[in-house]
Amino acid sequence: MAVSSKFLRVFEGETFSSPPIWFMRQAGRYLPEYRKLRAQAGSFLDLCFDPALASEVTLQPVRRFDLDAAILFADILLIPHALGQKLSFVENEGPKLDPPVSLEEVKRFRDRDVLEPLAPVFETVSKTKAALSKDKALIGFAGAPWTVATYMMAGGPMKDPGVLRQRFYEEPEFVTGLIDVLADKTIDYLIAQIDAGADAVQLFDTWAGGLPWPVLDAVSVRPLDRISRAVKKARPDTPVILFPKGVGEKATEYALLQGCDGYGVDYAMDPGWARGNLGERVVVQGGLDPLLVIPGGKPMEEAADVYLKLFHDVPYIFNLGHGFTPQTPPEHVAALVDFVRRNG
Ligand code: CP3
Repeated sequence: MAVSSKFLRVFEGETFSSPPIWFMRQAGRYLPEYRKLRAQAGSFLDLCFDPALASEVTLQPVRRFDLDAAILFADILLIPHALGQKLSFVENEGPKLDPPVSLEEVKRFRDRDVLEPLAPVFETVSKTKAALSKDKALIGFAGAPWTVATYMMAGGPMKDPGVLRQRFYEEPEFVTGLIDVLADKTIDYLIAQIDAGADAVQLFDTWAGGLPWPVLDAVSVRPLDRISRAVKKARPDTPVILFPKGVGEKATEYALLQGCDGYGVDYAMDPGWARGNLGERVVVQGGLDPLLVIPGGKPMEEAADVYLKLFHDVPYIFNLGHGFTPQTPPEHVAALVDFVRRNG
């Protein structure tokens, strides 16, 4: 199949002086057009499950900034929702969900079909794919099992990571049982996104940082190994990008995985270290601290230039080191895109 988008060509080994660009959390509250549509849609979940509106929101930033890739508008917590856990998003408090309480409950998740309740998401993917021009890629995604499990176990954003680590030591069967079932459902979910039209998929492990090695290996590296290998085995031509945030030099453990085609560098990682240790092994993506885009201007451009210079001779995708926050001025995003296009 002819590969045409700049984003996908990077995975074929091409390098660009001006790399392809997309941004984590490129759709969302910092965009006035999102806030307008969100107000019409009702709840955030209503928006995620409305293919016409979700597709429109997916396309908004691509249109406004002429980005090289769209990322499906959905959320990592749609999997627990599809498993039957009550989910809601409370303004200014973040997500709230029912925690599973027993190993028996976790075991019952095995028999639940997540693809049926998530069908509107696949419809969003196919609608968006049909609306995108051929030079733009569509990225599907899921949360990594550990990150999704933290929200499930804490019933929302975890307040104390120590509580969940302690739970892993005290009830390893419960925690690994939950992670295992999430990994299985995530494999099905990502393959279905690819079949609906996603050109690549990314796994977000936002809360991988700060875990001691054997725990990180058990709850993050090995589950991501299993998921990425299964997805590649089923759909060998689709790039898989891993974004385990805050793992420092353990990044190499992920980049070495057979199923890892791309690695999302977070803002805390030394870009020189990333170039030396990951740049020859996988497609490196991202790195720029999203908070620099809030003031914008010279400091943002100088920081962006560090990545452009370091990664000019290896396949690289320009992105952030985590998502945009709602305070980001859209004009600064436009200025950043312009800077990368002119100075790459
Ligand atoms: O543009 C994109 O990146 C695509 C859409 C996307 C969303 N969430 C939309 C969203 C993606 C890829 C995510 C991933 C996600 N969701 C992660 C991993 C990446 C990361 O940011 O660390 C996590 C941890 C979540 C869980 C989640 N979803 C939280 C903690 C919150 C509440 C925080 C907040 O900003 O309110 C959400 C809600 C959410 N997901 C919003 C959006 C646009 C805001 C909801 C709203 O419009 O009110």
